[in-house]
Parts: sequence; structure tokens; C-alpha cells
Amino acid sequence: MADYDFDVLVIGAGPGGYVAAIRAAQLGLKTACAESRETLGGTCLNVGCIPSKALLHASELFEEAAHGTLAKWGVKASGVELDLDTMHAARRDSITGLTGGIEFLFKKNKIEWLKGLATFESADTVRVGERTVRAKNIVIATGSSVTPLPSVAVDQERIVDSTGALELPEVPEHLVVIGGGVIGLELGSVWKRLGAKVTVVEYLDQILPGMDGEVRKESHKIFKKQGFEFRLSTKVTAAEAKNGSVALTVEPAAGGSSETIEASHVLVSIGRRPNTEGLGLEKAGLQVNTRGQIDTDHEFRTSIPGVWAIGDVIPGPMLAHKAEDEGIAVAENIAGETGIVNHAVIPNVVYTMPEIAGVGLTEEDARAGGEVKVGKFPMLANSRAKTNKEPDGFVKVIADAKTDRVLGVWIIASLGGTMIAEAALAMEFGATSEDIAYTSHAHPTHSEALKEAAMAVTGKPIHI
Ligand code: FAD
Ligand code: NAI
Repeated sequence: MADYDFDVLVIGAGPGGYVAAIRAAQLGLKTACAESRETLGGTCLNVGCIPSKALLHASELFEEAAHGTLAKWGVKASGVELDLDTMHAARRDSITGLTGGIEFLFKKNKIEWLKGLATFESADTVRVGERTVRAKNIVIATGSSVTPLPSVAVDQERIVDSTGALELPEVPEHLVVIGGGVIGLELGSVWKRLGAKVTVVEYLDQILPGMDGEVRKESHKIFKKQGFEFRLSTKVTAAEAKNGSVALTVEPAAGGSSETIEASHVLVSIGRRPNTEGLGLEKAGLQVNTRGQIDTDHEFRTSIPGVWAIGDVIPGPMLAHKAEDEGIAVAENIAGETGIVNHAVIPNVVYTMPEIAGVGLTEEDARAGGEVKVGKFPMLANSRAKTNKEPDGFVKVIADAKTDRVLGVWIIASLGGTMIAEAALAMEFGATSEDIAYTSHAHPTHSEALKEAAMAVTGKPIHI
């Protein structure tokens, strides 16, 4: 270590980078983390997971009070009003608390925060602002940013990306969301609950690509019932913002005659792309793949010895918990331990109402791989969900027909995001559907629907 400043330098303090830095420090390695934002926590804490969940929570409370859900339970609230400034203040408060918490953890673990943009000078040397440091190991955890849509320029006023959509100072009259993926549906839900008309324009013939086919279809139905409008198989070819509105030109994805949709606001949410620009990768001898990502092996080593990469900047789902798991694993590998992430069992949750969650294979992929058995149980038949008046959705368990091993679990349910953790744990332990079916589940809970779906794999659910 003689002429190195650090054992480990992590570039980026998102869920991947900050977790890697903390684990490296816990393992006794002298660690620094470069971050160019004013606060730690990356996309997730500053402009992603946390602020979006704050607004999802707040908007749900508003909707329950304003649109009669509470009244149905005998809780009468009159004169319900939206105070958007207070809602935004509560969102900012969550961010401040959590990003400050990471700063505290850095201090506690003696991790040096190098403030500024990091650029490679060579494979073991990085410049951060005015300072140049050498590190024995460098972990690239620079995350991702919004993919731009060339025909629709974001101005963060009328035409916004996810960051702008979290900060709109007024409820849009008509929000057109371009992209029926997870950001479009989550942030579309926020503004819809607060009073906006929401239209989703999606290029493909169905929303939520990558999810189980039946889940995609059912979610689409549920969102339509909630009042979302969908324009599937449609592309946006131009946008013109003028006089407080935006004229969007759309046409069938396969080509055909165009039409105009008038919107008060437009959200561009067509995906995210890895952050590698300006990082000076060429000076480290690194190249990106055709999707702009940094390839690694299973231990998160890049092609250059001593340089590692994790999180949204490498292939795989762009999820905070995947980045965190990789952060722990990479630090353990650097320290000479065995850090592993099971990429086959990474849960994925869309935090709408109901929540949409999945882990493992879709039914389509599982069937393509061999013979399977599928068990399904509707939330309508789950006593707790029915009592709570949350009847939408189902749980689906997909198991190998011969071994009964669970290959995938899909859930649409108000508490789907919480319920999926049990499925992930079961799959991590190599559970069969019978293992889940014979595990006692507390009554009355939404989780009993998972047990019943597992029972349905062998045709023996009780409550349907
Ligand atoms: P990031 O969090 O993007 O962090 C990278 C950090 O590196 C950034 O802070 C950046 O400033 C810094 N950086 C980049 N380049 C440099 C450089 N050269 N020098 C110094 N610093 C640099 N995921 C979930 O699992 N659940 C959710 O509910 C969820 N909600 C989301 C909602 C929204 C609106 C968005 C946009 C994303 C959401 N995500 C969610 C995705 C999640 O935020 C990302 O998967 C996660 O943040 C990736 O972590 P990361 O550490 O790889 O990168
Ligand atoms: P996404 O990949 O989820 O969805 C993008 C959608 O846009 C897709 O349906 C795609 O077909 C569509 N699309 C692409 N180009 C288009 C075009 N030109 N016109 C119309 N539609 C088009 O991406 P999104 O929603 O931007 O989110 C980015 C990532 O952030 C997600 O992949 C996810 O990893 C992460 N995220 C995770 C969350 C969670 O875990 N709850 C919440 C928010 C974001």
C-alpha cells in the first residue's frame, strides 16, 4: 500500500457505491468515495426511489381522503385540500434525512468523501476536482441517467424527465407520459391521484416490458379502470411547447397517419443509460459494450486488473437493491473474501396501487425452458385483502413440473412489494412449491395468497 493513497476508491455514492465503500471500510480497507453531487446517496436517495416513494405515499393519502375511500370506512373528512408545497417539503425532508444518514455512516466508518467529478488518469490514478489520488482498487459505481428522446427536448418545465416530474410546482391538467414502464406508471400514478388526467404513450403493444405476460395484461386493465388512458403501439415523433401547453405528434409505431395530442405537461420516461461519459475510461484502458455498459465477470472485475464495476453502469436490472448487493460483494471480493450475487433471484417491484412484483422467471421464459406447473390465487379470495377492500390482483407461482422447484413468483396486490420478499427468500433456499404450501402463514394476511398459490400448483388451494 506504500505509494497508494487508498486501498479502495469508489467512484459514485449511490446505493452501489456507498454500500461498497461502507463494506470495504468494515473489512479494514482504507477507503475513499468520489461523488460529484452535493449530497450522498446517488439517484436513488436524491431523485429516484426515495422521493418517488414519498410522493406515492403522500398522494395515496390524499386520494383516500379526497376521493371517498376513507368515507367508505366511516371516516368522514370534509374540505380536503391539496397543499402541494407541504407535500414537496415532506419529500425533501425524507431526502435530507436519508442522505445525511449516509454522510454520518461515512464519518463513522472513516470513509473519505472526495467531492467532485472523478476522471481516470490511468488504471490506478483518478483526478477528483483539484486532487489526484492513487488507489490499489477502483470501483466504478457511476450509475445511470435518463435516456433522452431526440424529438422531445426536456426543458424541466412543461417537458420533464423523472427528476422534473418529482418537482412539478402544480398539478398538471393533462400529463402525457412517454413510456409505459415503471417510472411512467409510478409518477403517472402520483399526479393522477392528485388530479391530473394521465395518458401513457407506449411504443410496444403492452406496458411493463420484461414482466410476466399475464401480469402485464392484468396491470394494464387495472390502470385503465383507475382512469389512465393508454396509447399502445404508438410513437411520439415531435413535441412543440407553446403558450403553456405542449402539442405532441404521435403515430402508430408501425407507421401510418399522425395525430396531435395536447398536453399541459409531458414526462419522458423511456429508460435509463449508464453513466460513463467524461470518466476517462480510455485512460484506464477500459471499453464499454454496445449498450454503453461496463462488462464485468461474476466477481465484478472489469478487463483491467484492480478496476471493478457495479450497479446501473454494468449489465442487469437497474435496481437499487441489485446495486447494493453488488456493492457488498465487490468489497468482499477486493478483501479476498467470496462475494456473490445471485442475479437469478432479484425481486422487482412497481410501487403503484396495487403494487406489481416479481422474482425469477416469467411464465413465458419458464415454459421456454421446459415443462412447468403454475398455481394462481386471486386477491379477491384472500380474506384480508377482501376485508380491506383491496380485491385487485393475484399471486402466481411457477414451478418446475418435475422437481417442483419454484422458478418464478409474480404478484399484483396492495402489499405485493412486501410479499415478494418471502418468495425471493424461498427461491434463494431452492424451495419447492410444496415447501411454501406447507409453511404456516399468519391469518389474516395478504401473504396467505402466496401459500394458496403454491397450493394451487398441485391443484389444492382451499379458498377457491
Ligand atoms: P446511482 O444511484 O445512479 O449513483 C451514481 C452516483 O455516481 C451519482 O450520485 C452520480 O452523481 C455519481 N457519479 C457519476 N459519475 C461520477 C463521476 N465521474 N465522479 C463522481 N461521481 C459520479 N430502484 C429500486 O430498486 N427501487 C425503486 O423504487 C426505484 N425507484 C426509482 C425511481 C426513479 C424516479 C428513478 C430515476 C430510479 C429509481 N430506481 C429504483 C433505480 C435506482 O435509483 C438505481 O437502480 C440505483 O440508484 C442505482 O444505483 P447506483 O449506485 O448504480 O447508481
Ligand atoms: P423502463 O425501461 O421501465 O420503461 C421504459 C418504457 O418506455 C418501456 O415500456 C419502453 O417500451 C418504452 N419506450 C421506449 N422508447 C419509447 C418511445 N420512443 N416511445 C414510447 N415508449 C417508449 O424505463 P423507465 O420507466 O424510464 O425507468 C428506468 C429504470 O429505472 C427502470 O428500468 C428501473 O430499472 C428503474 N426504476 C425502478 C423503479 C422501481 O424499482 N420501482 C422505479 C423507477 C425506476
